[in-house]
Amino acid sequence: MQRTEFEERTENVSVKVFRYDSSSIKKAKFDTFIVPVKKGMTLLESLLYIKERLDPSFTFRYSCRMGICGSCGLVVNGKEKLACKTQMETLGKSIEVRPLNNMPLIRDLVVDFSSFLEKHKKVKPYIIREDVDKNPDREFKQLPEEVNNYLIFADCIKCGLCYSACPTNATDELYLGPQALTQAYRFIADSRDDGQMVRMNIVDTNHGIWNCHFAGSCTDVCPKGVDPAFAIQQLKTLAIRKSGFLKKKRPAAPIDKRREIAEHS
Ligand code: FES
Repeated sequence: MQRTEFEERTENVSVKVFRYDSSSIKKAKFDTFIVPVKKGMTLLESLLYIKERLDPSFTFRYSCRMGICGSCGLVVNGKEKLACKTQMETLGKSIEVRPLNNMPLIRDLVVDFSSFLEKHKKVKPYIIREDVDKNPDREFKQLPEEVNNYLIFADCIKCGLCYSACPTNATDELYLGPQALTQAYRFIADSRDDGQMVRMNIVDTNHGIWNCHFAGSCTDVCPKGVDPAFAIQQLKTLAIRKSGFLKKKRPAAPIDKRREIAEHS
């Protein structure tokens, strides 16, 4: 007789999941399910097993199943991870799954990304050109080293793991957060962009780069190796050396301004 997919199990794992339903009397609780885990099974597949076989009301987000869409972020055993990229065999026999931190709950493991995405939009995450309307067909070529200045920061999939892990986001709801600040740096570091001053004015604030305490948890949890902590430190350096971050093609700061900066440095 042919075995079904889940009959090829190797061991049972206890999966304790956070449940939240604003319409029920007991709004928040944990439910524990036993999941038969076989080699190669991901956390996302375990959650799907629970939903498809044990409790169809269990709610969570996912889409691509391959670490690209960024929609399956969770807190697993206290650490932010993508469910589709996490092997069950790395989590032990008893695991706890919670929704991402620092965002309002909607239901079970689903949180509201609105403010996270608003902050992303606030830093103008696109190329700003002063001359694009005058010459819309022009190509903007770059040298390989110019691409390398921002390439790693362009890998962000907006999964929200860094935002959830950030201790500053937990205490300051106005803080732009590691994801938005990193995207500000991604475009500032792009040689095609003319929006450096606009973005620096947005991030060089108390709820921007200066509220980052360099805990480094953003970089620790990023599933794409983006390194937001490094990007934020780069922004701080640029903010301190106001005249230094402007690209070579821009006019130098006036002599008086340079004297003023030198006197205060
Ligand atoms: Fe798309 Fe996990 S389902 S990143």
